[in-house]
Amino acid sequence: MTKPPAAVSVRDLRKSYGKLNALDGVSFDIERGETFALLGPNGAGKSTAIEILEGYRDRTSGEATVLGTDPGRGGLAWKAQLGIVLQSTGESGNVTVHEQLTHFAGFYPNPRPVDEVIASVGLEAKERTLIRKLSGGQRRRVDVALGIIGNPTLLFLDEPTTGFDPESRRQFWELIRSLKDEGTTILLTTHYLDEAANLGDRAGIIAGGRLIDIGTIDAIGGADARVPLVRWVDRGVRREQRTAEPATLVAALVRDNGGVELDGLEVVRPSLEDIYLELVAAYEHPAPERVEGPERVEGPAASTSSATDLSKENAR
Ligand SMILES: Nc1ncnc2c1ncn2[C@@H]1O[C@H](COP(=O)(O)OP(=O)(O)OP(=O)(O)O)[C@@H](O)[C@H]1O
Ligand SMILES: [Mg+2]
Repeated sequence: MTKPPAAVSVRDLRKSYGKLNALDGVSFDIERGETFALLGPNGAGKSTAIEILEGYRDRTSGEATVLGTDPGRGGLAWKAQLGIVLQSTGESGNVTVHEQLTHFAGFYPNPRPVDEVIASVGLEAKERTLIRKLSGGQRRRVDVALGIIGNPTLLFLDEPTTGFDPESRRQFWELIRSLKDEGTTILLTTHYLDEAANLGDRAGIIAGGRLIDIGTIDAIGGADARVPLVRWVDRGVRREQRTAEPATLVAALVRDNGGVELDGLEVVRPSLEDIYLELVAAYEHPAPERVEGPERVEGPAASTSSATDLSKENAR
């Protein structure tokens, strides 16, 4: 059986602003129905990539296909299949929430009911309020509502929940899950790594205009990055060890400690945020190439690194 064509396909995408290579050869696919999180530090090139795919910016070179069309040449019928939440809209809005959504619903062949969309972003109490009188987070919810009013096949969300309070973010996640269940393809950028972990099927990490990792949320950073870390304090010295069997290690440490509880004991499972930070730091400050590595010791606790004396580092 042949695979259906990807919703988004990008090959060696490049964008230069003068001498700056904002995108420096990025390639990825997003399958239909998938939620793909594009992650990366400020200035990495996320909005540039998204806006090229939305047809808002020209690319310098490379190939891009969005729902079977080159986004540089997409017509009205193509645009009607997209939902777009830009990073910043800059609109002040001298109309009410309800008026704005009704107005935009009129541009689409198959819009969602306005009241349903208002409820899904939790703005029922504000539907007759002028948009300029809304709080920042409430305005952002209007942006999200405008992104989904046209019942899009493909939804672009560029930092959609910036300014949302925690409760609204959870509500937004529910909304995204229901859109996913309906089969909507979603390209999301966010600086909230828990958001990416909760919503994303796959993620791509972009830094300096390059894709430095891509994969399912569980695979980002590779298997070793997810090995739990046991931390404890031994006679005033902080120690840590990665191990796939933390309980075995802790039991051995307690036994060696004469059955006494360990000071400062922690077992940490690296989150997507921990792994992301390591990947970006490794990209930004690459370690000098090692000519000869230390021998790897495979102990019963399958440690991937030996206990580290962090006291000097802490003293700095
Ligand atoms: N119109 C422009 N003219 C010149 N440089 C630009 C323009 N737009 C973006 N850039 C530069 O391109 C780089 C990538 O910007 P982009 O907005 O894509 O980053 P981003 O990953 O979305 O960052 P953020 O997380 O802050 O939103 C940055 O260095 C930015 O300064
Ligand atoms: Mg951006």
